[in-house]
Amino acid sequence: MTIKITTFSILLFFSANLFAADNRIKVELPSHMRDHMLSNMRDHLLALQEITRYLSDSEYEKAADVAEQRLGMSSLESHGASHMGKFMPKEMGAIGTSMHQAASRFAISARDAELDGGLHKAFSALSEVMQQCVACHSGYRVH
Ligand code: HEC
Repeated sequence: MTIKITTFSILLFFSANLFAADNRIKVELPSHMRDHMLSNMRDHLLALQEITRYLSDSEYEKAADVAEQRLGMSSLESHGASHMGKFMPKEMGAIGTSMHQAASRFAISARDAELDGGLHKAFSALSEVMQQCVACHSGYRVH
C-alpha cells in the first residue's frame, strides 16, 4: 500500500511538472498595448460571467447584447483589433477572429432561445466561444 502511494506520488510529481512546462509562444507587444489587451481580457471573462448569469435568469436578449457588444464582431473597434492584429502572429489573430465570430453566433442562438425556449444551442455556441479562449491561451503569452 505504502509503495503504491509512493509510486503514485512520484507519478503525480512528474506529470505535474510535465504540465507546468510552458511551450506557449511569447508575443512581444509594446507595453501600452499589452496593458490594453490584458484589460480587454479581464473584460472578456467578466462578459462570460454576465452571459451565464443572464442565461440562468432567462434574460436572453441581455445575454445576446453582452456577447455581441463585448466579444462579438461589434466589439472589434473598441478592442482596437486592427491595430493590435499587426503585432500578433497570423494564427493568433485567426483565433481572435474565430472568437469574435463565435460570440456573434452565440448572440443569435441566445435570441433564438428566447423564441423556442431551448438553451441547448445557446450553450453549445457559448462553448465554442470559450474554446477559442482556451486555444489562444494554450498557444500564446505576452509576459
Ligand atoms: C487571440 C488570443 C486570445 C483569445 C481569443 C483570448 N485570450 Fe485571454 N489572453 C491571451 C493572452 C496572450 C493572455 C496573456 C497570457 C500570459 O501572458 O500569460 C491572455 C490573458 C487573459 C486573462 C488574464 C488577464 C490579466 O490581467 O492578466 C484573462 C482573464 C483572459 N485572458 C480571459 C479571456 C477570455 C475569457 C477569453 C475568451 C472569451 C479570452 N481571454 C480569449 C490571449 C487570448
